[in-house]
Amino acid sequence: LQGGEKKGSAAKLEQIEDPNKPRIRILYGTQTGTAERFSKQIQKSLKAKYGNSTTIDVVDIENYQASISLPKEKTVIMCMATYGDGEPTDNAAEFYKWLLKESELADSSSEEPLLGGVNYAVFGLGNKQYEHFNSVGKKVFKSMGTLGAKPLVRRGDGDDDGCLDDDFDKWCVELYAALEARSDLVGKVTDQKQDESPTSIPAYDCEIVLSGIKQAPPFPANGTGLDAHHPYMATLKCVKELHAPSSDRGCVHAEIDISSSKMKYVTGDHVAIYAQNSDSVVKEVSQLLGQSNLDSTVILLRKPSATSPHAAASAGLAPPPFTGPLSLRLALAHFADVLSSPHKENLRALAAFAQDPVEAQKLRKMSSPDGKEEFASYITQPKRSLVEVMRDHPSTRQLPLGVFFASVAGRLQPRFYSISSSPLAHPGTVHVTCSLVKDVMPTGRVHEGVASTWLKRCEPPTHVPVFIRQSTFRLPKDTKVPIIMVGPGTGLAPFRGFMQERDVLKKSGKELGQAIMFYGCRNQATDYLYREELEGFLEEGVISELNVAFSRDGPRKDYVQHHMESKGALLWELLSKQAAVLYVCGDAKAMARDVNKALIAVIQSMKGCSGTQAEAFVKDLQDSGRYQRDVW
Ligand code: 2AM
Repeated sequence: LQGGEKKGSAAKLEQIEDPNKPRIRILYGTQTGTAERFSKQIQKSLKAKYGNSTTIDVVDIENYQASISLPKEKTVIMCMATYGDGEPTDNAAEFYKWLLKESELADSSSEEPLLGGVNYAVFGLGNKQYEHFNSVGKKVFKSMGTLGAKPLVRRGDGDDDGCLDDDFDKWCVELYAALEARSDLVGKVTDQKQDESPTSIPAYDCEIVLSGIKQAPPFPANGTGLDAHHPYMATLKCVKELHAPSSDRGCVHAEIDISSSKMKYVTGDHVAIYAQNSDSVVKEVSQLLGQSNLDSTVILLRKPSATSPHAAASAGLAPPPFTGPLSLRLALAHFADVLSSPHKENLRALAAFAQDPVEAQKLRKMSSPDGKEEFASYITQPKRSLVEVMRDHPSTRQLPLGVFFASVAGRLQPRFYSISSSPLAHPGTVHVTCSLVKDVMPTGRVHEGVASTWLKRCEPPTHVPVFIRQSTFRLPKDTKVPIIMVGPGTGLAPFRGFMQERDVLKKSGKELGQAIMFYGCRNQATDYLYREELEGFLEEGVISELNVAFSRDGPRKDYVQHHMESKGALLWELLSKQAAVLYVCGDAKAMARDVNKALIAVIQSMKGCSGTQAEAFVKDLQDSGRYQRDVW
């Protein structure tokens, strides 16, 4: 299943395990780190209960040789996130494909079930606002069962639209009870009391040097950009605001030079950008950490030393986000996610270091299972950020940096964008179209999105670490196949790439099929992105129709799906008779769902069939790759 290097790490794992002890394997499919965090939480809770009598390990599913190891497991717990349009996370993609394939084969086979000896539990992480809520968790749960594995508990469905942590805590109670009842799967209970001392908090060994040391770059200069672990140091060569000056929002057009790299992209791919916190955020966090000198140099050690007071707690800690030597300024700018809400684990770590007993008690309560309401009303509902929490608890100022980076602030994650250019039109350059995230939070705090704010304010030329992620959003190979594009707002991005590509193809003499564009924005005068280009493409015959919905110019909302409905006959002709491909890009929560509904309604009325038959038609489109979605 996996490549050579990965086999090595899996093999090492086998060696250190004690074959005489029951083993619980925890696997995670994570994109932003939450499923990984949950997996580690389960590991920690089980370790506290079963101590050394059971081997409990957490493995990144990407580093796991499922075809060989999974059938041999006795107990497997999985935390599986769903991403975008019901897709697995990048690290789980191979595993997911393999598992679904095996379960399909098992369905039609009468052989011994592959996972007959396995007991399993699955917690899915998703968001109910999305059409394919938790589809990865659901399919993994089902496939495991089809392959003969026995569920220990009901499937957990975590909903990020509510409180994911609460859903998880609730499910864990059931999981732990189920394990307790299965003495054949777990060792002896060696219950240990929850340790609340500072040394119980995982920490990196950290050295702070005041001056005179040569610094390393935040990201290695020789990254290939071929995956998330090796971002390429590209040059951001231009940024431009796309909205009219009268707009109260913003949308940034950025151009990134990758011409000196080995990176290649195909029209429709995504680019990931590692952005930075703003100077004011960095400054405030350093003050909250009681660090007055942003130029002091930080070194985080890859493996906490055995003599560190946090050594035991730090076993199994992920490698640090950087090793340095790096100035505190850059360390905080590039690696600390401080504008997201903290998790319970983070509050527990803060509590252990709070000097004021009242603050410590408040933080501890919120991080405990019976502090659910306090956590919801102080963190979840007001969307309080880590910075705000630290500001509210000034006695945590003595938090060591090694604890901060290991247990308090998550790692700043790269942001993904649908590339808005075609490599045929702009070789060696990636274009990004990114809306400015600026929202007033319930606490009155103005939340500025890290990446969009950084892009908006940066002064090109400047370096930016990036990598490309392949997508499945692809133009038809045959240029004569008609296409229908639906992309309001920044959902226009990949279609700008499609149009650029068709433009080049057309100029080189290729015959093009029809291309119908449905675009939408609020007002013609303020946020009509790339208007001149789109009208130019229409004039040149690169697209055959440009339908634009202005949602806030008229007396009532005008959306892309309303235009699709009024063009129902054309859509039906293209989809039913001319094998057209339909693409939808943009917001998954409301837009993609409503567009899907409109599509079903169009088919129903044009075909003169039932809703169920229209849905089956749409499913066929999807299965044959003729209905592709790039939604977030
Ligand atoms: P609105 O903000 O005026 O409601 C890009 O964001 C465009 O998509 C905006 O014009 C926005 O309109 C519109 N939009 C919002 N919700 C939508 C939905 N459910 N379906 C289609 N378009 C939507």
